[in-house]
Amino acid sequence: MRKKIIAANWKMHMTVSEAEAFLHTFLHEIGDEAGAEVVIVPPFTALAKVSEILGRGQAAKLGAQNMHAEKSGAFTGEISAPMLRELYVRYVVLGHSERRTIFGETDEVVNRKVRAALDAALKPIVCIGETLEQRDAGQVEAVLHSQIEKGLHGLNTKELSDAVIAYEPVWAIGTGRTASPQQAQEAHAFIRKTLSEMWDAATADKVRIQYGGSVKPQNAAELMREPDIDGALVGGASLDPRGFAEIVKAAAHH
Ligand code: 13P
Repeated sequence: MRKKIIAANWKMHMTVSEAEAFLHTFLHEIGDEAGAEVVIVPPFTALAKVSEILGRGQAAKLGAQNMHAEKSGAFTGEISAPMLRELYVRYVVLGHSERRTIFGETDEVVNRKVRAALDAALKPIVCIGETLEQRDAGQVEAVLHSQIEKGLHGLNTKELSDAVIAYEPVWAIGTGRTASPQQAQEAHAFIRKTLSEMWDAATADKVRIQYGGSVKPQNAAELMREPDIDGALVGGASLDPRGFAEIVKAAAHH
């Protein structure tokens, strides 16, 4: 049985004081809701404060939005896995479509980061997904297959089962246009089938596949009911502590 995993990708939002205020309300709202794993993914500047507030409690874990593949060096403006580990970061989002399109990250770069994350005992949340043009051209499966093959190249079965995959159709990110539960389930089932062909069925069955793209309290429950949707990577709607708590509760009950 895969435990649902709901992550709040705050992107470039939330100052330290805003993050504190968010957590104050959010932690109160979710109480001891343990049905889903929650990951808060703040900007780097708020990691230390969020880490301190979450402490060793199990209410929510800490994630980072990106990292560099090298451990240290002359890479001005970058952050490494050991730096994240020191702050008790457990997850790192890699290959988000904004990183790919705005910052030019290729599957090869994503793969190097995935390797570095796993070597540092950080669990990668690897984002994949097609653009609207690719969907209209009937290329969804080809795109997902290629992103999985290149992005997750070289992982052993244990490493794969520690990884989380986030299916984020680019056309659904920040647009208010969510994939229908059927569209999302179809893509998730394809991703799981691909993992089972590239690794094996037992491992593919353990991997959690999140859906991301305009997830809101209003549509979370119907998405979470689908058999291959194991959680959500939430952008805009994760900035509101009450709304995000509702999404967590919807996941915990499906
Ligand atoms: P939105 O929820 O704002 O569409 O963003 C999705 C996303 O990119 C999460 O990583």
